[in-house]
Amino acid sequence: MDKIIRWGILGTGKIAKAFATALRDVPDIELAAVASRSVDSATEFAREYGATRAHGDYQALADDPGVDVIYIATPHAMHHENAIMCLKGGKALLVEKAFTLNRREAREIVDLARERKLFVMEAMWTRFQPAILEAKRMIDMGEIGNVRNLQADLGFAADAGPEHRLFNPALGGGALLDLGIYPLSMAAFFLGPVKAARGFGELAPNGVDVQANFVLNHVDGSLSACSCSLNTRTPATLSVCGDKGFLRLHGRFHHAERFTIAMNDGSEREFHFPRIGNGYAHEAMEVGRCLREGLLESPEMPLDETVELMGVLDALRAQLGVRYSVD
Ligand SMILES: NC(=O)c1ccc[n+]([C@@H]2O[C@H](COP(=O)([O-])OP(=O)(O)OC[C@H]3O[C@@H](n4cnc5c(N)ncnc54)[C@H](OP(=O)(O)O)[C@@H]3O)[C@@H](O)[C@H]2O)c1
Repeated sequence: MDKIIRWGILGTGKIAKAFATALRDVPDIELAAVASRSVDSATEFAREYGATRAHGDYQALADDPGVDVIYIATPHAMHHENAIMCLKGGKALLVEKAFTLNRREAREIVDLARERKLFVMEAMWTRFQPAILEAKRMIDMGEIGNVRNLQADLGFAADAGPEHRLFNPALGGGALLDLGIYPLSMAAFFLGPVKAARGFGELAPNGVDVQANFVLNHVDGSLSACSCSLNTRTPATLSVCGDKGFLRLHGRFHHAERFTIAMNDGSEREFHFPRIGNGYAHEAMEVGRCLREGLLESPEMPLDETVELMGVLDALRAQLGVRYSVD
């Protein structure tokens, strides 16, 4: 792998723009190409963010020999098809969350990547925020004692119609896949693998979940209480609780820069670890590190965990009664 990582971006929506902005802060990369279903969108995006080539269809990006890794920034329902196409084109991948619509789709991507010896990572950017890595390090050092409990919430009152990807079942709409993956993924990050999940949801008339609360039972017996909401604004904090105290990631926890450690004696300490730019540079740097070191997955966001957590989302959706056509 050359020292310069040549990125391609698939899709030109909101998160694609945020990621292209973040790439400006990442050393030793080139934004080699962008692809859109519309050549005009691709051309405009390339002009604005300095991409070398603009493709008017996704296949051309998958086949572009001047691209090492493709960032998939389409709605969740397209991730499986887009990822399989790009892997067949020999590309490494960073795939937005939710990784896919369900566990089966995730498994198929991971199996193909392993067969073709290509790097893939779920774009769970939260795991690479400096404050969150430091919080994990302090917890692992025993700062708050024996950790047995976690609470996390993520919600905002979405101002979008039923056709928007947040609520459209054909695009993988629903709170669990868009937001619930954050508390779920971070609960697994701090407390380890999940052995069981129980949830309740409030469904929209079209059957997608506008909000959900769920409890996780981790393999070591510890517990997490999580919620996600597309119809209420929530504090968006995450607390990891031990027998000596707790650590609270300040809102909005999924890109926190600050956390507080509160001890049983009432003392509190606040920590500040700023992120770079809008926060997406860190996941791009991790992809670059892995590619340069010849890794096929990131030890911080392993593929088996991505697949397992999609399985937890499947189980929760089944309890809520939320089904997608691909289930
Ligand atoms: N990590 C984060 O913080 C974060 C934040 C927001 C979203 N996301 C994730 O990123 C993904 C995209 O979200 P977004 O907010 O960027 O969505 P968006 O603004 O709607 O953009 C999605 C893009 O996907 C492409 N696309 C392909 N097929 C489509 C279809 N049938 N309908 C609509 N768009 C289609 C379009 O690009 P072209 O027209 O150029 O082909 C569109 O601009 C989702 O999986 C979401 O969960 C992550």
